[in-house]
Amino acid sequence: MSNAMNHDQNASEGLVARDLVMTYGRSPGQTPPALGGVDLTVLPGESVAVMGPSGSGKTTLLHVLAGILRPTGGQVLWRGRDVARMSDRERTTLRRKDFGFVFQQGMLLPELPAVENVALPLMLDGVSRRVATRQAQPLFAPLGLAGLEKRRPGELSGGQAQRVAIARAMVARPGVVFADEPTGALDQHTSAEVMRHLTDLAAHTGAALVVVTHDENVAAWCGTVVRVRDGRVVERTTRRPGVSVAAAAPQVAQ
Ligand SMILES: Nc1ncnc2c1ncn2[C@@H]1O[C@H](COP(=O)(O)OP(=O)(O)OP(=O)(O)O)[C@@H](O)[C@H]1O
Ligand SMILES: [Mg+2]
Repeated sequence: MSNAMNHDQNASEGLVARDLVMTYGRSPGQTPPALGGVDLTVLPGESVAVMGPSGSGKTTLLHVLAGILRPTGGQVLWRGRDVARMSDRERTTLRRKDFGFVFQQGMLLPELPAVENVALPLMLDGVSRRVATRQAQPLFAPLGLAGLEKRRPGELSGGQAQRVAIARAMVARPGVVFADEPTGALDQHTSAEVMRHLTDLAAHTGAALVVVTHDENVAAWCGTVVRVRDGRVVERTTRRPGVSVAAAAPQVAQ
Protein backbone atom coordinates (compact mmCIF):
# COMPACT_ATOMS: atom_id res chain seq x y z
CA MET A 1 0.00 0.00 0.00
CA SER A 2 1.34 3.46 -0.85
CA ASN A 3 2.03 5.94 1.92
CA ALA A 4 -0.66 8.27 0.61
CA MET A 5 -3.28 5.53 0.74
CA ASN A 6 -2.13 4.51 4.16
CA HIS A 7 -2.46 8.08 5.43
CA ASP A 8 -5.94 8.45 3.92
CA GLN A 9 -7.07 5.25 5.53
CA ASN A 10 -5.72 6.36 8.90
CA ALA A 11 -7.32 9.77 8.48
CA SER A 12 -10.73 8.10 8.17
CA GLU A 13 -10.10 6.70 11.66
CA GLY A 14 -8.89 10.00 13.09
CA LEU A 15 -9.90 13.62 13.34
CA VAL A 16 -9.70 15.78 10.22
CA ALA A 17 -10.34 19.52 10.00
CA ARG A 18 -10.81 21.03 6.56
CA ASP A 19 -10.63 24.76 5.93
CA LEU A 20 -12.07 25.67 9.34
CA VAL A 21 -13.32 29.21 9.68
CA MET A 22 -14.70 30.65 12.91
CA THR A 23 -16.08 34.15 13.25
CA TYR A 24 -17.55 35.17 16.59
CA GLY A 25 -20.43 37.58 16.83
CA ARG A 26 -23.01 38.88 14.43
CA SER A 27 -20.97 41.26 12.34
CA PRO A 28 -18.40 39.08 10.65
CA GLY A 29 -17.14 41.93 8.47
CA GLN A 30 -15.98 43.96 11.45
CA THR A 31 -13.93 41.42 13.38
CA PRO A 32 -11.18 39.30 11.88
CA PRO A 33 -12.06 35.60 12.10
CA ALA A 34 -10.69 33.68 15.10
CA LEU A 35 -9.93 30.87 12.64
CA GLY A 36 -9.16 31.80 9.07
CA GLY A 37 -9.05 28.47 7.24
CA VAL A 38 -7.36 25.74 9.26
CA ASP A 39 -6.55 22.27 7.92
CA LEU A 40 -5.41 19.73 10.48
CA THR A 41 -5.31 15.95 10.73
CA VAL A 42 -4.86 14.10 14.00
CA LEU A 43 -4.31 10.40 13.49
CA PRO A 44 -5.04 7.71 16.09
CA GLY A 45 -2.21 7.56 18.61
CA GLU A 46 -0.75 10.87 17.44
CA SER A 47 0.10 13.69 19.85
CA VAL A 48 -0.20 17.26 18.64
CA ALA A 49 0.84 20.38 20.53
CA VAL A 50 -0.91 23.58 19.42
CA MET A 51 1.20 26.67 20.14
CA GLY A 52 0.81 30.35 19.37
CA PRO A 53 0.45 33.81 20.91
CA SER A 54 -2.49 34.79 23.11
CA GLY A 55 -5.57 35.41 20.99
CA SER A 56 -4.24 33.45 18.00
CA GLY A 57 -7.19 31.02 18.04
CA LYS A 58 -5.87 27.97 19.93
CA THR A 59 -8.81 27.51 22.29
CA THR A 60 -11.24 28.25 19.46
CA LEU A 61 -9.57 25.55 17.36
CA LEU A 62 -9.74 23.05 20.22
CA HIS A 63 -13.42 23.77 20.85
CA VAL A 64 -14.31 23.50 17.17
CA LEU A 65 -12.35 20.24 16.80
CA ALA A 66 -14.11 18.85 19.86
CA GLY A 67 -17.60 19.76 18.61
CA ILE A 68 -18.14 22.25 21.45
CA LEU A 69 -18.33 25.15 18.98
CA ARG A 70 -19.86 24.93 15.53
CA PRO A 71 -17.54 26.44 12.92
CA THR A 72 -18.74 29.25 10.64
CA GLY A 73 -17.18 27.41 7.72
CA GLY A 74 -15.33 24.22 6.89
CA GLN A 75 -15.66 20.73 8.25
CA VAL A 76 -14.59 18.55 11.13
CA LEU A 77 -14.65 14.84 10.35
CA TRP A 78 -14.39 12.29 13.15
CA ARG A 79 -13.77 8.78 11.88
CA GLY A 80 -15.04 9.93 8.50
CA ARG A 81 -18.24 11.56 9.81
CA ASP A 82 -19.00 15.26 9.64
CA VAL A 83 -19.48 16.44 13.24
CA ALA A 84 -21.65 19.40 12.16
CA ARG A 85 -24.13 17.05 10.51
CA MET A 86 -24.61 14.98 13.64
CA SER A 87 -27.70 15.56 15.75
CA ASP A 88 -27.24 17.35 19.09
CA ARG A 89 -27.74 14.02 20.77
CA GLU A 90 -25.03 12.33 18.70
CA ARG A 91 -22.67 15.22 19.38
CA THR A 92 -23.29 14.97 23.10
CA THR A 93 -22.51 11.26 23.00
CA LEU A 94 -19.38 12.03 20.98
CA ARG A 95 -18.16 14.50 23.60
CA ARG A 96 -18.90 12.07 26.40
CA LYS A 97 -17.53 8.86 24.92
CA ASP A 98 -15.12 9.50 22.07
CA PHE A 99 -13.53 12.69 23.37
CA GLY A 100 -11.95 13.49 26.73
CA PHE A 101 -11.12 16.96 28.09
CA VAL A 102 -8.50 18.36 30.44
CA PHE A 103 -8.70 22.06 31.28
CA GLN A 104 -6.14 24.44 32.72
CA GLN A 105 -7.58 24.30 36.22
CA GLY A 106 -8.80 20.72 36.40
CA MET A 107 -12.44 21.83 36.95
CA LEU A 108 -13.00 19.05 39.44
CA LEU A 109 -16.13 19.08 41.56
CA PRO A 110 -14.93 20.16 45.03
CA GLU A 111 -17.52 18.22 46.99
CA LEU A 112 -16.78 14.85 45.38
CA PRO A 113 -13.90 12.53 46.35
CA ALA A 114 -11.26 12.07 43.63
CA VAL A 115 -12.51 8.65 42.61
CA GLU A 116 -16.03 9.99 41.99
CA ASN A 117 -14.66 12.92 40.04
CA VAL A 118 -12.93 10.39 37.78
CA ALA A 119 -16.06 8.24 37.59
CA LEU A 120 -18.28 11.21 36.71
CA PRO A 121 -18.30 10.84 32.89
CA LEU A 122 -19.45 7.23 33.31
CA MET A 123 -22.14 8.21 35.83
CA LEU A 124 -23.38 10.96 33.48
CA ASP A 125 -23.69 8.21 30.92
CA GLY A 126 -25.97 6.21 33.18
CA VAL A 127 -23.48 3.84 34.81
CA SER A 128 -24.21 3.33 38.52
CA ARG A 129 -21.96 5.01 41.07
CA ARG A 130 -20.73 1.63 42.32
CA VAL A 131 -19.75 0.31 38.88
CA ALA A 132 -18.36 3.68 37.73
CA THR A 133 -16.09 4.07 40.77
CA ARG A 134 -14.92 0.49 40.31
CA GLN A 135 -13.91 1.34 36.73
CA ALA A 136 -12.26 4.60 37.84
CA GLN A 137 -10.14 2.92 40.50
CA PRO A 138 -7.49 1.27 38.22
CA LEU A 139 -6.53 4.66 36.77
CA PHE A 140 -5.13 5.89 40.07
CA ALA A 141 -1.97 3.80 40.42
CA PRO A 142 -0.54 4.40 36.92
CA LEU A 143 -1.01 8.14 37.45
CA GLY A 144 0.87 8.02 40.74
CA LEU A 145 -2.34 8.69 42.68
CA ALA A 146 -2.66 5.43 44.65
CA GLY A 147 -4.17 6.07 48.07
CA LEU A 148 -5.66 9.45 47.13
CA GLU A 149 -8.99 8.08 45.88
CA LYS A 150 -11.04 9.42 48.80
CA ARG A 151 -9.45 12.88 48.96
CA ARG A 152 -11.45 15.85 47.81
CA PRO A 153 -9.88 18.20 45.24
CA GLY A 154 -9.12 20.79 47.95
CA GLU A 155 -6.95 18.19 49.71
CA LEU A 156 -4.74 17.53 46.65
CA SER A 157 -1.71 19.39 45.29
CA GLY A 158 -2.08 21.17 41.93
CA GLY A 159 -0.22 18.40 40.11
CA GLN A 160 -2.25 15.67 41.81
CA ALA A 161 -5.51 17.45 40.98
CA GLN A 162 -4.43 17.76 37.36
CA ARG A 163 -3.64 14.03 37.23
CA VAL A 164 -7.14 13.34 38.61
CA ALA A 165 -8.46 15.49 35.74
CA ILE A 166 -6.43 13.37 33.30
CA ALA A 167 -7.89 10.18 34.78
CA ARG A 168 -11.36 11.66 34.35
CA ALA A 169 -10.61 12.54 30.71
CA MET A 170 -9.45 8.97 30.09
CA VAL A 171 -11.99 6.92 32.03
CA ALA A 172 -14.40 6.43 29.12
CA ARG A 173 -11.50 5.36 26.87
CA PRO A 174 -11.81 8.25 24.42
CA GLY A 175 -10.30 8.27 20.93
CA VAL A 176 -9.01 11.83 21.40
CA VAL A 177 -8.04 13.72 24.55
CA PHE A 178 -8.14 17.53 24.25
CA ALA A 179 -6.15 19.52 26.78
CA ASP A 180 -6.15 23.33 26.96
CA GLU A 181 -3.10 24.52 28.90
CA PRO A 182 -3.21 21.42 31.15
CA THR A 183 -0.02 22.48 32.92
CA GLY A 184 -0.67 26.23 32.90
CA ALA A 185 -0.96 26.39 36.68
CA LEU A 186 1.97 24.07 37.45
CA ASP A 187 5.72 24.45 37.95
CA GLN A 188 8.20 22.94 35.45
CA HIS A 189 8.83 19.73 37.36
CA THR A 190 5.15 19.05 38.01
CA SER A 191 4.29 19.90 34.38
CA ALA A 192 6.77 17.30 33.16
CA GLU A 193 5.22 14.73 35.52
CA VAL A 194 1.73 15.52 34.28
CA MET A 195 2.82 15.32 30.64
CA ARG A 196 4.62 12.05 31.28
CA HIS A 197 1.44 10.56 32.74
CA LEU A 198 -0.77 12.04 30.04
CA THR A 199 1.38 10.72 27.17
CA ASP A 200 1.93 7.31 28.83
CA LEU A 201 -1.75 6.78 29.37
CA ALA A 202 -2.61 7.94 25.84
CA ALA A 203 -0.01 5.52 24.46
CA HIS A 204 -1.52 2.67 26.47
CA THR A 205 -5.06 3.35 25.36
CA GLY A 206 -4.19 4.39 21.79
CA ALA A 207 -5.85 7.80 22.28
CA ALA A 208 -4.73 10.77 20.22
CA LEU A 209 -3.78 13.93 22.12
CA VAL A 210 -4.31 17.56 21.21
CA VAL A 211 -2.59 19.82 23.74
CA VAL A 212 -2.72 23.61 23.69
CA THR A 213 0.31 25.07 25.43
CA HIS A 214 2.54 28.13 25.67
CA ASP A 215 5.36 26.02 27.03
CA GLU A 216 7.98 24.57 24.66
CA ASN A 217 8.87 21.97 27.30
CA VAL A 218 5.29 20.72 27.28
CA ALA A 219 5.18 20.73 23.46
CA ALA A 220 8.37 18.63 23.44
CA TRP A 221 6.32 15.69 24.75
CA CYS A 222 4.26 15.69 21.56
CA GLY A 223 5.25 14.12 18.24
CA THR A 224 3.88 17.05 16.24
CA VAL A 225 3.89 20.77 16.94
CA VAL A 226 1.42 23.03 15.13
CA ARG A 227 2.00 26.78 15.35
CA VAL A 228 -0.99 29.08 14.99
CA ARG A 229 -0.93 32.81 14.29
CA ASP A 230 -3.95 35.04 13.63
CA GLY A 231 -6.20 32.02 13.21
CA ARG A 232 -3.99 30.21 10.73
CA VAL A 233 -1.55 27.33 10.96
CA VAL A 234 1.81 28.80 10.03
CA GLU A 235 3.97 25.77 10.76
CA ARG A 236 3.57 22.07 11.39
CA THR A 237 6.59 20.12 12.58
CA THR A 238 6.49 16.38 13.01
CA ARG A 239 9.59 15.38 14.82
CA ARG A 240 9.38 11.70 14.04
CA PRO A 241 6.56 10.83 11.66
CA GLY A 242 4.49 7.85 12.73
CA VAL A 243 6.18 7.63 16.11
CA SER A 244 3.73 6.84 18.87
CA VAL A 245 2.97 9.18 21.72
CA ALA A 246 5.16 7.35 24.24
CA ALA A 247 8.18 7.08 21.97
CA ALA A 248 7.99 10.80 21.20
CA ALA A 249 8.36 11.73 24.86
CA PRO A 250 11.65 13.33 25.89
CA GLN A 251 13.86 11.63 28.45
CA VAL A 252 13.47 13.30 31.81
CA ALA A 253 15.18 12.66 35.09
CA GLN A 254 12.77 11.16 37.59
N1 LIG B 1 -16.71 33.91 22.91
C1 LIG B 1 -16.05 34.78 22.16
N2 LIG B 1 -16.69 35.85 21.62
C2 LIG B 1 -16.05 36.73 20.84
N3 LIG B 1 -14.74 36.66 20.53
C3 LIG B 1 -14.04 35.63 21.07
C4 LIG B 1 -14.65 34.64 21.89
N4 LIG B 1 -13.71 33.74 22.27
C5 LIG B 1 -12.57 34.16 21.70
N5 LIG B 1 -12.75 35.28 20.96
C6 LIG B 1 -11.74 35.99 20.16
O1 LIG B 1 -11.21 35.07 19.21
C7 LIG B 1 -9.81 35.20 19.09
C8 LIG B 1 -9.13 33.87 19.43
O2 LIG B 1 -9.37 33.56 20.80
P1 LIG B 1 -8.88 32.22 21.49
O3 LIG B 1 -9.50 32.16 22.83
O4 LIG B 1 -9.13 31.09 20.56
O5 LIG B 1 -7.31 32.50 21.59
P2 LIG B 1 -6.15 31.65 22.30
O6 LIG B 1 -5.12 31.42 21.26
O7 LIG B 1 -6.73 30.46 22.97
O8 LIG B 1 -5.58 32.69 23.35
P3 LIG B 1 -4.98 32.42 24.85
O9 LIG B 1 -3.58 31.93 24.62
O10 LIG B 1 -4.99 33.80 25.44
O11 LIG B 1 -5.85 31.45 25.55
C9 LIG B 1 -9.41 36.35 20.02
O12 LIG B 1 -9.33 37.51 19.24
C10 LIG B 1 -10.57 36.42 20.99
O13 LIG B 1 -10.74 37.73 21.44
MG1 LIG C 1 -6.88 29.88 25.00
